[in-house]
Amino acid sequence: MSGHLDNFTIIIFGAGGDLASRKLFPSVYQLARWGHLPPAYRVIGVGRAGQSHEGFRSFVKERVMALSPESIDDHDRFDEFCNRLFYVNVDLDKVEGYHALHDEIMNARGEGVCNNLLFYLSTPPSLAPGIVHNLVLAGLGGRNRPCSGWRKIVVEKPFGHDLKSAVELNGLLEDAFEERQIYRIDHYLGKEPVQNIMVFRFSNGMFEPLWNRQYIEQVQITIAEEFGIRGRGAYYEEAGLLGDIIQNHGLQLLAAIAMEPPVELSPEAIRDEKAKVLRSVRLFSSESVHGSVVLGQYEGYRLEKGVAADSRVETCASVKFHLDNWRWSGVPFYMKAGKSLSRTVTEIVITFKCPPQNFYAISGAPSCTPNQVILGIQPDETVAIRFGTKRPGEEMVTDPVFMKFDYRTSFAEKGLTPYHRLLLDAIAGDQMNFIRRDSVERSWTVIDSIREAIGDEAPEPYPVNSWGPESSVRIYG
Ligand code: BG6
Repeated sequence: MSGHLDNFTIIIFGAGGDLASRKLFPSVYQLARWGHLPPAYRVIGVGRAGQSHEGFRSFVKERVMALSPESIDDHDRFDEFCNRLFYVNVDLDKVEGYHALHDEIMNARGEGVCNNLLFYLSTPPSLAPGIVHNLVLAGLGGRNRPCSGWRKIVVEKPFGHDLKSAVELNGLLEDAFEERQIYRIDHYLGKEPVQNIMVFRFSNGMFEPLWNRQYIEQVQITIAEEFGIRGRGAYYEEAGLLGDIIQNHGLQLLAAIAMEPPVELSPEAIRDEKAKVLRSVRLFSSESVHGSVVLGQYEGYRLEKGVAADSRVETCASVKFHLDNWRWSGVPFYMKAGKSLSRTVTEIVITFKCPPQNFYAISGAPSCTPNQVILGIQPDETVAIRFGTKRPGEEMVTDPVFMKFDYRTSFAEKGLTPYHRLLLDAIAGDQMNFIRRDSVERSWTVIDSIREAIGDEAPEPYPVNSWGPESSVRIYG
């Protein structure tokens, strides 16, 4: 791969934050170590820490060793990587710092290093508009790039905090960069089992013919975490679970399960199909919301740092979605996501309809144990199929059994982690696993419709280590 990549500079806004130390720096280091990066590249951290280049290198070393020590497998090579780090002090609201950034970028030696620029916004959504505006003023926008070279911008999720802010941010971004230069990242799209959803569906003749309302009873998507908000009180107060997980990870999983086959394997063809699914998600009204959405807040959330004592922010959501399209009409898509739940698991369960008659039911038992395809995303990276089989013995009765494929035992090679893959894609210019403007805006339209319909009703409290509010069962059935 390195042979095909141009020399480049990555400029990271939010370089002092957790994401940079946990994921971004370790991923760039490893990509270089595995030989995926070109010979000359630089990483410039941007922030207000008043640091020198040397100070920044020590800071990154310390933070990465504290937050992501297992990612460093060769300390000499990591030191070598750290020598490619530079730091520019920028007061994000003021254009002066961006001129200094421009000068630092142009300081680079090595062909193309200063012409190929990847800006990475790992900052809270509220800072993004100011950064984009000032980049343009300093001549660093994508539309004022020199004739040779490329400029791209990666924007971390959440992209805005509602439809209005997302539209505004998209407007600003598109004044500064062309859509093909904009990479709205959702790291779920870089997960191996998530990428496998399309492969599983479209490369296996036995499932795709059944993948529709005639054979599928319901789909359940679960994104559960047993930990709480991990000190991100201020962020959670702004995003809530709906903005943190459902708007992006949840609806992207739904789109991958429900999309039509693309006309070709190109980023635009795939993103067209995902956008069509999102367009078909039925919006919520104050009448429909009560039977379809239950929001919860874990007990103790209001005591977390940065959280208001009377906060009405949700940390758990159960939602029944309907897709108004030909393939999925009438099939409920249940989604459950939350913090401080009983266990950490992300999985998608596709439940098929029962055969018209069940000869083998035990009397008193449910008349059918439906077939299921269970796509384990994490921690297990699996595909399981559940079917009924004859229980050994004299009686002709069925028991449910599973056939299971597990990435970890079936393949010797390890996949790339999401940040390795997506960083590499962004550098190489592949937008397939990044979210397009229409999808991001439609996802916010869906979330806004839930929020508006719920109004100022408080979320229901639930105990830590439970499956959320008990009343969430009311959305099923
Ligand atoms: C992030 C959310 O996008 O995804 C977090 O902000 C969540 O709240 C995390 O915990 C889950 O991602 P992963 O890949 O660590 O399971």
